[in-house]
Amino acid sequence: MVRSVLFSRFTDKFFAGFKNRSCLAEFRQFTSTTFPELAEFGNISSHEDLHKFSIQRPDKFWSVLARSRLKWETDFHTPMDCDFRTGKFNWFLGGKLNISVNCVDRWAEVDPERIALVWEKDEQGEVENVSYSQLQDMVGRIANTLKQAGVGVGDVVALYMPISPVAVASMLATARIGAVHTVVFAGFSAEALAARVEDSGAKVLITADESVRGGRRTPLKRTVDTALEKCETVKTVLVMRRTGAEIKMKPNRDEWLDECMLRSSPICAPKSMNSEDPLFLLYTSGSTGKPKGVSHSSAGYLLYAMVTMKHAFDYKQGELFGCVADIGWITGHSYVVYGPLANGGTSLLFESTPVYPDPGRYWEMVERLKINHFYGAPTALRLLIGYGDEYVTKYDRSSIRKLGSVGEPLNQEAWHWFHSVVGEKRCDIVDTWWQTETGGVAISPRPSAPNAPLSPGKPQRPMFGMNPVLLDEKGEEVQGLGVSGSLCLATPWPGIARTLHGDHQRFVQTYFSAYPGYYFTGDGAFRDEKGDYQITGRMDDVINVTGHRLGTAEVEDVLTEHDNVAEAAVVGYPHEVKGEGVYAYVILKQGVNLDEENIRNELKLLVKSKISGFAIPEFILFTPGLPKTRSGKIMRRILRKIAANQMDDLGDISTLAEPEIVETIIQKHQKK
Ligand code: WTA
Repeated sequence: MVRSVLFSRFTDKFFAGFKNRSCLAEFRQFTSTTFPELAEFGNISSHEDLHKFSIQRPDKFWSVLARSRLKWETDFHTPMDCDFRTGKFNWFLGGKLNISVNCVDRWAEVDPERIALVWEKDEQGEVENVSYSQLQDMVGRIANTLKQAGVGVGDVVALYMPISPVAVASMLATARIGAVHTVVFAGFSAEALAARVEDSGAKVLITADESVRGGRRTPLKRTVDTALEKCETVKTVLVMRRTGAEIKMKPNRDEWLDECMLRSSPICAPKSMNSEDPLFLLYTSGSTGKPKGVSHSSAGYLLYAMVTMKHAFDYKQGELFGCVADIGWITGHSYVVYGPLANGGTSLLFESTPVYPDPGRYWEMVERLKINHFYGAPTALRLLIGYGDEYVTKYDRSSIRKLGSVGEPLNQEAWHWFHSVVGEKRCDIVDTWWQTETGGVAISPRPSAPNAPLSPGKPQRPMFGMNPVLLDEKGEEVQGLGVSGSLCLATPWPGIARTLHGDHQRFVQTYFSAYPGYYFTGDGAFRDEKGDYQITGRMDDVINVTGHRLGTAEVEDVLTEHDNVAEAAVVGYPHEVKGEGVYAYVILKQGVNLDEENIRNELKLLVKSKISGFAIPEFILFTPGLPKTRSGKIMRRILRKIAANQMDDLGDISTLAEPEIVETIIQKHQKK
């Protein structure tokens, strides 16, 4: 059951430096405003106590928050019943609630005009605001449309649509009637969409005529038509009009969503759901074999998303939360939709790209909309660094309070650029580590004592309820500081995924079998001298060079510190003498015309000076781009194959954003 007692030993270090009187006063202020409901636990007098309490008594900690922050129809009787060994996670048993009521109705009742969504369309400057009462109306109409299409409790509805208020309302509408949504990123190919829809068994699919991104239109409906030739489960396709393009509608299957909404009543009684009923499935990127349909619960997921959103970013009601992720990914689920709305907040829906119409797009939007929290991806930051600072500095960013990052290590250079250039050294950088499976932020510099120091390049400290441990190859916990290991989480939390759709065995196998009694994240991490955590990369990205373990992210971090480097990806390749050698793919900044050989030598020296001689890349290949999934993740599998000269065995590259780049890299590799 709960591994409760053992874990406080690390936490003392997380909040080291906090134990003095002025910090205590700050802490008291912090808890009274941010966790007023915990006042009853009078013995909590420091931040470390609060964290300790959350992992020693997760039942108490989370049930107090569940009762004060969620709206229940029936109170729960059992806070938790969890077992890492069997992958069983139950939270708030006996409780009944509806997620759309929690995200929409309760705010529409008290403050109907409050803005829930700010839709920044691709076309620059075109914005649409949606109030909570308008959102409630849309949710009701779509929910009734879905009922009309025969969707009932537990049925799956697939979404393949661009980010928009209708998309958000569609997610909430499925929740309203007790159905389950699966959002497939609207950049996936027909084949990838078909595989996901088929696996989910969706009955209804909601899409749009076209999407618009970076000034380009993509024919979504046409892709859906192709995908559905291959899967039989979908009986109804609802089509949102985004561009008004002429499209083919298949009789007896396809209907215009706006027409259905006009015909439907906005009133739809919310279905009372059990805490543990599934809310959504989300397929993790196809970069590793068959996509996994990660299944999340209702109450536990929502609570974790909303609590982490509020506290990792110190969100205050009335602020505009600007998470620029798409709803096709977990970040969009938790920090565009569920977290902000469950807190009664105002959330940005960003439809465009960081470089359209020019690389100042984010910051121009920040100035125009007065965004208070900006949450983005390191890959976008690295891209923008290459275009120069003027695109940032010419806009007023004084509205921003917090800057967040997610999805991959925020390398030193990007951290400092984000902090100094974007944030004018005023804003906390919240480097959040988490996963589709954790449901919400798991390790993040905040919350902590408000002035606890930030450490560039590290997510640093566990969130409340999070109990990270590092394990060695034997499955033993690695104690102390300045140590590395497999990053595992040792205490259950409400946001943990409940299963993989249709394959609980694979769920247990993937996450709970390598280290029995723990959740294995698949990542490696380093706990530094201060107790702060740094992610060293996926365990499969760790290279073993002459017996030394080397995180590819570590080398990348150093390479991108070079003034002329925009981005780097490092992989291992088989090396006769060393076991594995280091191979670096490097993108130089725009307009760099220096002698490549010079830069190569400089980079090697830099790695030697920052890490060690063994880490020096054997090969440095300059390339104009990297193979990335459409969510911006580098597909290292392909880079490893090229580095290993296994070009005839690259596997499926159809889910790449730009598959052509692979050929360019192969040619350069062969000439090197
Ligand atoms: C990586 C995204 C370093 C990590 C929310 C993790 C990170 C995987 C960070 C999950 C970070 C995410 N620093 N690495 N701040 N955040 N990752 O499921 O390898 O798309 O396991 O969830 O991204 O990716 P996913």
